[in-house]
Amino acid sequence: MAIDRGGPIDQDHQTLVRQVNELHTATSEGRGQEVVARLLEELVRDTVEHIRREEQLMHSMGYTQLPKHKQGHDHFVDELRSLQTQYQAGSITVAPRLSMLLRDWLSLHIRRYDKDIAVFLRKREREAARTPRPRA
Ligand SMILES: [Fe+2]
Ligand SMILES: [Fe+2]
Repeated sequence: MAIDRGGPIDQDHQTLVRQVNELHTATSEGRGQEVVARLLEELVRDTVEHIRREEQLMHSMGYTQLPKHKQGHDHFVDELRSLQTQYQAGSITVAPRLSMLLRDWLSLHIRRYDKDIAVFLRKREREAARTPRPRA
């Protein structure tokens, strides 16, 4: 299953975690604006790509929580883009807000809401396995 350990969705999540860590290290070490801006750009790009993949999967599986889950995605991308714009404009208050947003994204969204997708899919697979197939 795509979302299970080692699947494409799981790999996306691991990439995002790595990117967030790199970004965190760069900002806490006071690295140059160019470095941080590049990391932020990569994070936004890969997040948008990941979200597209994940929503496609939820859609194809008939995931009942898709509209609510999508709201969370849209909200996160809006916030991320807004902080990116503020960072580019030279705001110095961005770093703590960014790290809070990313912490929520990783610990709440990915660990909880994305996990719910896997739980739903596994439940459906079990149900499908129990349902006798009609005879041809
Ligand atoms: Fe995700
Ligand atoms: Fe998600």
